[in-house]
Amino acid sequence: MGKLLTSTESLEMSLSNELEAQGVSRRSFLKFCTAITAAMGLPATMVARVADAITSPTRTPVIWLHFQECTGCTESLLRATHPTVEELVLDMISLDYSETLCAAAGHQVEKSLNDSAKLNEGKYILVVEGSIPMKEDGIYCKIADRTALDILNDYGSRAAAIVAIGSCASWGGVQSASPNPTGATGVNEIIKDKPVINLPGCPASPYNLLSTILYYLTLGKLPQLDSKGRPKFAYGRLIHEHCERRPHFDAGRFALEFGDDNHREGYCLYKLGCKGPETYNNCSSILFGDVGSGAWPVGTGHPCFGCSEEGVGFTKHIHEQADVFTDSPPASYAQISGDKPGGVSIAGAAVAGAVGGVILGASAVAAKKMKSEETAPESDA
Ligand code: SF4
Ligand code: F3S
Repeated sequence: MGKLLTSTESLEMSLSNELEAQGVSRRSFLKFCTAITAAMGLPATMVARVADAITSPTRTPVIWLHFQECTGCTESLLRATHPTVEELVLDMISLDYSETLCAAAGHQVEKSLNDSAKLNEGKYILVVEGSIPMKEDGIYCKIADRTALDILNDYGSRAAAIVAIGSCASWGGVQSASPNPTGATGVNEIIKDKPVINLPGCPASPYNLLSTILYYLTLGKLPQLDSKGRPKFAYGRLIHEHCERRPHFDAGRFALEFGDDNHREGYCLYKLGCKGPETYNNCSSILFGDVGSGAWPVGTGHPCFGCSEEGVGFTKHIHEQADVFTDSPPASYAQISGDKPGGVSIAGAAVAGAVGGVILGASAVAAKKMKSEETAPESDA
């Protein structure tokens, strides 16, 4: 007679089968779950529940609308790997409508949008990508002869919650830069009677979308949000705090021109206009872009231009120097190799392990710090 399996063993077996079919090893998957749990600021005891949420057969219905934008956030999601975030997200939800991904078109796809909204009234998550033009009664963006404003009000009023993905949907983004000819506006300026979660970025990090959805699926509630409607676990810290070039900043070593010796040495980009000191996001700890461990703007040698921070990205001039909110070195940051200024040790910056190419180690440190601020995660919404 076969031995009875514990619930953990059963979970591991069902995971194995499902993951094997997707070509992902169970070990990589569980490592990924551990890292994403830490990134959400949840304790390690939640890993099994997070893994369960990912593999649950219940799918939350999602309607994904595109307005004034470049589709960069969707593209960024579709190109994320290790393991394929897009597969994880699309497996966790029932994506009932997305203009970019739907195979159908015209009346057929409009019908599926209406049917899904009717069937899942009050239960679906509305994801909005792109800003909403408000000038001239919204005529600058129309789909199926309806303005973006009309569509947002209609499907927004019937949703359980709204995720504004990217800077455009969060606060207007590049379209709202002065003189903002179309009156480009973020979702939360329009929808006032529903929780709106902002995930700004240009593009938004797909890991922030994944972890926000996972948080909701695991705990059945929305994550704590900051005063700009962003999940605190992802936007609670300045980029400057975990940047791999931070020791150079503290030591006063700066690149002065693109391509100069200091730039080649990996020095701090502050004097080239880096907005990391006034931009809240987790790019420096999570990294994204999936083209190697240095794949984030500063890692590739370009200053952060504050794409995710309202009032900084697309507002301040690109070479303008940032306001510095924190002038003392953080408790944990990258070490410089040798005592002579030299290359920054990426391993030092990451603090801990890589998960299939996605370095989430620094997030674990961030999560540890956050745990003292918010022991039991509660939703503000
Ligand atoms: Fe990194 Fe920019 Fe801060 Fe320099 S100013 S440490 S490059 S975030
Ligand atoms: Fe944007 Fe700066 Fe991150 S430019 S992607 S907020 S490093």
